[in-house]
Amino acid sequence: MAIQKVGLVGCGLMGSGIAQVAAQSGFDVVVREVSPELVDKGLKGIEKNLARLVEKGTLTGEQRDQARARLRGTTRLEDLADRDLIVEAIIEQLPAKIELYGALDKLCGPATIFASNTSSISITEMAAATKRPGRFVGLHFFNPVPVMKLVEVIRTIATEESVFEEMVAFGQRLGKTTVRTSDRTGFIVNRLLVPYLLDAIRALEEGVGSIVDIDNSMKLGCGYPMGPLTLLDFVGLDTTYYIANIMFDEFKERRFAPPALLKRMVLAGWNGRKAGRGFYDYADPQNPKPMKF
Ligand SMILES: NC(=O)c1ccc[n+]([C@@H]2O[C@H](COP(=O)([O-])OP(=O)(O)OC[C@H]3O[C@@H](n4cnc5c(N)ncnc54)[C@H](O)[C@@H]3O)[C@@H](O)[C@H]2O)c1
Repeated sequence: MAIQKVGLVGCGLMGSGIAQVAAQSGFDVVVREVSPELVDKGLKGIEKNLARLVEKGTLTGEQRDQARARLRGTTRLEDLADRDLIVEAIIEQLPAKIELYGALDKLCGPATIFASNTSSISITEMAAATKRPGRFVGLHFFNPVPVMKLVEVIRTIATEESVFEEMVAFGQRLGKTTVRTSDRTGFIVNRLLVPYLLDAIRALEEGVGSIVDIDNSMKLGCGYPMGPLTLLDFVGLDTTYYIANIMFDEFKERRFAPPALLKRMVLAGWNGRKAGRGFYDYADPQNPKPMKF
């Protein structure tokens, strides 16, 4: 079965990006949010992004209109009943996801595939809330979705081979590069990235280098686009702390354990760029200054 009708649940940062890319790629898309205001906000954000692409010459006015015409917003879960694929991008809380999947499982036909965009929750645990664990995968997109090229396609031990391959093909039909991975917390990207980021904090704690010197080392010595402490401020220290705790819980290895400094910074509300303060002070956002600890 070739996927044609896609449902998105959640039209926040990630859901709106996935909905936009799916509509641009020719899929018929219905997006569900919890209130009319949030539906409106999500769709307006997509319209703004599409308009920006037209201004830049990436998209013609006609392509924008066609993409917009393929997108519909709703607050009714029932409007997702006829979808071939449902991609879920709601808040990162297991009880909310379990409740949603239980309801969707009753609404949708047995052929509908469910895919979660979760960063850290076990795909198997969500699949177990449905009667279709064979038709359940993870599709992990990156922020901002229209720009970032990668999608991690995640199979559980119960995912059917044909469903997994169909989801790899779906990612490619969105113009993304897909990688295949299994349901181990962190998948590929965070499995490698999170210990690296935590090690940068430990290096700072141990006085191996200053904030600026640690960042410059990886930028100029390894060609990374930004240093690890700058990247931590972008991702959000609270988010990193949350993910590190989940990964430590799964693997029980020191490399995933959040360093004391990270915990202290999160407790103090120094969550990075969005909080105006993390490893850098963003009082002047164009010219961040390293913090003194
Ligand atoms: N932010 C990132 O960089 C990033 C990257 C990859 C994956 N993710 C994952 O994507 C998911 C969404 O994250 P986000 O950053 O877009 O969050 P977000 O807070 O921007 O958006 C979540 C949206 O889901 C809506 N929502 C909550 N419950 C709902 C329901 N039952 N039905 C419909 N909508 C509902 C909320 O109103 C909100 O608008 C999470 O699982 C997160 O782990 C995030």
